[in-house]
Amino acid sequence: MTARYITTPIYYLNGTPHLGHVYTTVAADVLARYWRLTGADVMFLTGTDDHGQKVAQAAHEAGESPQAYTDRLSIVWREMSDRVNASYDVFIRTTEERHYKAAQTLWEKLEAAGFIYRDVYAGWYALRDEAYVEEADIVDGKAPSGAPVVWVEEPSFFFKLSAFQKPLLDYYEAHPDAIGPVGRRNEVISFIKGGLRDLSISRSKFDWGVPVPGHPGHVMYVWIDALTNYITALGYPDTHTEDFKKFWPESIHLMGKDIIRFHAVYWPALLMGAGLTPPKRIMAHGWWTNRNEKMSKSVGNVIDPFQLIDTYGLDPVRYFLMREVPFGQDGDFSEPALIGRLNSDLANDLGNLTQRVLSFVHKNAGACIPTPGEFTPEDRELLAKAAHLHETLHDDMAVQAFHAYCQHIWEVIGEANRYVDAQKPWSLRKSEDPADHTRMNTVLYVLMEVIRHAAIYAQPVMPSSTGTILDQLAQADRTFEGLKTPLKAGVFLPEPSPVFPRIEVRLR
Ligand code: MSP
Repeated sequence: MTARYITTPIYYLNGTPHLGHVYTTVAADVLARYWRLTGADVMFLTGTDDHGQKVAQAAHEAGESPQAYTDRLSIVWREMSDRVNASYDVFIRTTEERHYKAAQTLWEKLEAAGFIYRDVYAGWYALRDEAYVEEADIVDGKAPSGAPVVWVEEPSFFFKLSAFQKPLLDYYEAHPDAIGPVGRRNEVISFIKGGLRDLSISRSKFDWGVPVPGHPGHVMYVWIDALTNYITALGYPDTHTEDFKKFWPESIHLMGKDIIRFHAVYWPALLMGAGLTPPKRIMAHGWWTNRNEKMSKSVGNVIDPFQLIDTYGLDPVRYFLMREVPFGQDGDFSEPALIGRLNSDLANDLGNLTQRVLSFVHKNAGACIPTPGEFTPEDRELLAKAAHLHETLHDDMAVQAFHAYCQHIWEVIGEANRYVDAQKPWSLRKSEDPADHTRMNTVLYVLMEVIRHAAIYAQPVMPSSTGTILDQLAQADRTFEGLKTPLKAGVFLPEPSPVFPRIEVRLR
């Protein structure tokens, strides 16, 4: 059976979720739901990154102990996952006992293999990014991300990252799909080709982290501990658990482009050093910007996802996030764009089509799925387009092209809208000729079959609204496999009601 391990980054607990975070979680959820519908064995992991200096500082500012603060904030983040209807299987926290064990074992393996040595780190550190910054990369006294830097000088353990330049290049050469999108892959490869410096992997000036085994006074650099979460959740250090055997390395790590280096350079090197296989795919999305500036708490320009959800509904917001911007590229958020998209794609295209067809059937075709007559070439063409979605959508999901996934479904919905206008079932109904009535039933049947396909395929993106449409179509089997069996005629339908209301914008 196909196995898919889908992960979000674990979120820092120094603040509350904004639209950028919701984006990663929703994308991962869409992927997880899609693979489940194909019948694959799926594990979807998300959680929180409890450690590090940044979180410790946030706790201090809140006047709480790091433990109490992270206990409180972790719940807020978990609620975010629930509010966006993320179907995660495991919600991990890096303060869990099992995670300490996993991170410490990974460390011990690396140490035993000779990849860790003791020295002193003297250099720049960007607290906001929890990242070491090279002197040469500092622009106007700041990290390339714009984060302020501070000088750090402390005894530290180092990981021999430099030893992994060739293994990493060989790995990426042999696995061209391991990093997406292609532009990011090229960036990572040229970064590795530029030479890798050993990485400082412990901190000794504060203690909010996983203790380094055997070396009191040191805690692990937060990224080393954080990355390990992906295998903790599978049972590591035990590599013989059912989950580990099934899901490693069948992983798709989703994240924003700002943290690809940690995932595509450090993480595979750490795994190789400990004798484990690198992840199968690392996929980086772009940033949501607000007036062309990256949305971030420190800039103070964040969009509150919950306010959007309260105003427009969860599924419409999920749809907008997935459809509007090609996954991998940056996108500028604007409420007019959101409203435009919801009105055109959801209220007009899918909503109206469904409502028109179902209420027509309710009134004029005995409120049940009509029995079709002979199909015309136009009918066959439209039915074939719906049936072919299967391969197209599979290809889209294989590269996490969520926008294309939606676009392809909506192309067929557009065809169905053109078809209904051309076939005019309402005129057929008025005819005295019984042949026209049979034709009307055929047209309605074809339309309902297309709506069934669209709703079933759109489930990963809009799980609840598509559920309502499928309820109205009286469809119990909502799997992709079920689409291989043609829509059954003669099934009674409940009374339909509109699923996607039009958003009226009040002029201020
Ligand atoms: N804790 C680390 C991840 C460790 S994973 C082993 C971290 N956390 S984070 O909370 O800062 O960010 C989590 C995710 O949110 C990242 O994928 C990041 O790119 C994403 N986003 C944060 N702001 C964003 C936007 N403005 N737009 C899109 N995504 C952005 O990094």
